[in-house]
Amino acid sequence: MTKKIAIAIDGPAAAGKSTVAKIVANKLSYIYIDTGAMYRAITLKALENSVDVNNEQELVEILETTSIKLVQSEEGQRVLLDDRDVTLDIRTSEVTNNVSYVAQHPKVREDMVARQQQLAEARGVVMDGRDIGTKVIPDAEVKIFLIASVEERAKRRHVENINKGFPSDLEQLKKEIEKRDLIDSEREASPLVKAEDAVEIDTTSLSIQDVADQILHQVQKILK
Ligand code: CDP
Ligand code: CDP
Repeated sequence: MTKKIAIAIDGPAAAGKSTVAKIVANKLSYIYIDTGAMYRAITLKALENSVDVNNEQELVEILETTSIKLVQSEEGQRVLLDDRDVTLDIRTSEVTNNVSYVAQHPKVREDMVARQQQLAEARGVVMDGRDIGTKVIPDAEVKIFLIASVEERAKRRHVENINKGFPSDLEQLKKEIEKRDLIDSEREASPLVKAEDAVEIDTTSLSIQDVADQILHQVQKILK
């Protein structure tokens, strides 16, 4: 039987993590796990229930009774929050602009990391986020850290919005991304940082396929 490994992909917002993670997972017939979607789901629930995103205790209390499932479907991964499909609802700018506040609480992270570690236990996973290589799967066989200039990342999100027919302001997007990166990088609990043994790929001028190929090359080195 072919050996199954864990692939950790971290990096700042819009570096291309989820796009390439899906391609890599597909190619290897692995499961893709979007940990950002899990933080977004609990943020959505907090906002819907008027829970203050700065109140760690209240957030932990709602987490205790919250189920978050990532299910594979023909249209891609769906996110179920207490069995309600919130795949689209977790992408609103309200959720995006609040998620980093929710994700900075140590006890919220503890709960999420435990859930994510359970999902990764069986290997055969590609997991993307901010702390996968450092905290969630520190013994992942392949660790990748994707970066790209903030201008390029804002442009990517802008194009994505326009293609979806959403209103979009490039300068505003750049500011929001910079702010989120700052909170994610400066928080005390498992901040966004490259794991010492991660391979860094600057995707600024690379195509999606180039990035996926570079990751698959790292995987082949382990599986050969
Ligand atoms: O896709 P995008 O880069 O916009 O973000 P995401 O992966 O959906 O993650 C949303 C937010 O969740 C991040 O900005 C972090 O605040 C938080 N997050 C985290 O703290 N740790 C993770 N492993 C994944 C996401
Ligand atoms: O998951 P993360 O927030 O890191 O980024 P993403 O959602 O995978 O990628 C953001 C956007 O950049 C998507 O629309 C991708 O198609 C695009 N992208 C790109 O243009 N070139 C790359 N090398 C990677 C992603």
